[in-house]
Amino acid sequence: MAAANRLIVLTGLVALVAAAALPPAVAAGPGGGDLPAADWAAAAVHYRLLLEEALLPLKRALLQSVQGPLVLEPLPYSDDALQPVISAKVGRGTLPSDKEESIRNNGGGHWNHQLFWRVMSPPGSANTSRDNISPQLEAAIVGAFGSVDQMLSSLKAAGDSRFGSGWSWVCAAGDGGLRVLSTPNQDNPLMAVVRPQPCVPIVGLDVWEHAYYLQYGPKRGDYTSAWLELVNWKQVSANYDAARRGDLAAIAGAV
Ligand SMILES: [Fe+2]
Repeated sequence: MAAANRLIVLTGLVALVAAAALPPAVAAGPGGGDLPAADWAAAAVHYRLLLEEALLPLKRALLQSVQGPLVLEPLPYSDDALQPVISAKVGRGTLPSDKEESIRNNGGGHWNHQLFWRVMSPPGSANTSRDNISPQLEAAIVGAFGSVDQMLSSLKAAGDSRFGSGWSWVCAAGDGGLRVLSTPNQDNPLMAVVRPQPCVPIVGLDVWEHAYYLQYGPKRGDYTSAWLELVNWKQVSANYDAARRGDLAAIAGAV
């Protein structure tokens, strides 16, 4: 199993714990969180759908996988070196192939949304100011796209043209160069099925219908245009730094 998919499996495991609590802004409800009351219902629906579509199926898939322990990093000794204290059967195993797709979809969904919640900030708030763009991120943006506006235009276009459900991403390749790309369903550019060499997401735009249909109807383009005003540039700059360090946990939170 590729490293990126192992990451998804591991983050998915911890998602079972995270599923017990709603995000603070949603849990607080109207008037008690960061979201205006008018938007709270839409946010709650989005989060409930995530729970039903991603976390609960992930939990089922993992519970059904217990007979095949997950594959982790290579051991510094042979599979049977710890016998008889630890059986080789306990120490090694593979993820059942019939569970890979479920964990890819549902673990991916969890990881993607962990990033998604964090790269948004209330419209007009300090974090949405482009003054927060770090010099390193700005240099990377200018190098890849020419300007912030052109990068955002590419991000929107990738989301608008995604057929069906999926995501639009700004990601950092291994050389620090930025790319915009789109993935279907709950895939992301960390996954080996998407790119042979992972590209670390620093911005993720959810273009599933559940993200916008309640409020915008079929006008996905109106949603993606409005969404660009929510970009938390402070977080995106931190994400770029984390991507350069290879610190994925800093990007999607302590999942
Ligand atoms: Fe979503």
